[in-house]
Amino acid sequence: MTVLETVAALREWRRESTAKVFFVPTMGALHEGHAALVREARRLAGMEGRVAVSIFVNPLQFGPGEDLERYPRTLQADLALCTAAGADMVFAPAVNEVYFDDRSIKITESSLSRVLCGASRPGHFDGVCTVVAKLFNLVQPDEAVFGKKDYQQLAIIRRLVRDLDFPVAIHGMETVREADGLAMSSRNRYLNPDERAQAPALRRALLKALAEWRDGDSEAFSLEESVRDEIARTAPLARIDYVSCVDGGTLQPVDGSAGQRLAPRVIALAAFFGKTRLIDNIELPDD
Ligand code: PAF
Repeated sequence: MTVLETVAALREWRRESTAKVFFVPTMGALHEGHAALVREARRLAGMEGRVAVSIFVNPLQFGPGEDLERYPRTLQADLALCTAAGADMVFAPAVNEVYFDDRSIKITESSLSRVLCGASRPGHFDGVCTVVAKLFNLVQPDEAVFGKKDYQQLAIIRRLVRDLDFPVAIHGMETVREADGLAMSSRNRYLNPDERAQAPALRRALLKALAEWRDGDSEAFSLEESVRDEIARTAPLARIDYVSCVDGGTLQPVDGSAGQRLAPRVIALAAFFGKTRLIDNIELPDD
């Protein structure tokens, strides 16, 4: 596996790559969820294609007071994981390799990013869109793989690609979970033992709402209430940021009425355990 640290080296790698490129952008601190994304890229690429991973903690997507400084940096372990999962190339640049000090252009998504996590993390998705657009320009992938745990991010990336005509096919991969259901996240390592013990309540609350949905409860409000109640009952350390039942395509709140939808409904949530903010979601299938 090749490791590249400069834009110049990446451009050369890309110029020499005649095969299709399958891309997994990450911020490092990789875990089994990322390994699944890289393995999926490898599967899509087959023997012929090239699998590229980026490892870059993007300062633009962290707000003031968020965890940019303490965000885990584990490059050697990350490279080992990428090798084992089948990556051909890792791009791991320093911040000044990616951003000019006097940069003055950013990308703003002005609809999907205003709700859910975007409402409590203003500017976060501008940072994500800007870095993903830059990485797409640099790596020039044919296809890219993102996780569905970051459901809103995935919807916004699809919109970015559509609205700005990036010739990149986007794949969304199911969330990889710990044995007790907690969605894998680089931030799980911040949880203390008590918080870690209660964090799977998020998943259990979403599964309970899914069961209620299957039993015929189609009212968004009552499903959201059920999730909040279950978390409050079983995870007193959790401080809920939001629980929201939305259209999976537009991310706008849904009501109980039947209508033409492009995507299934999703219940998305974010909750703090101490300073650690965790997110999760569940799709409510129409069948
Ligand atoms: O999901 C992430 O890890 C990041 O938001 C991404 C897409 C790599 C952009 O920095």
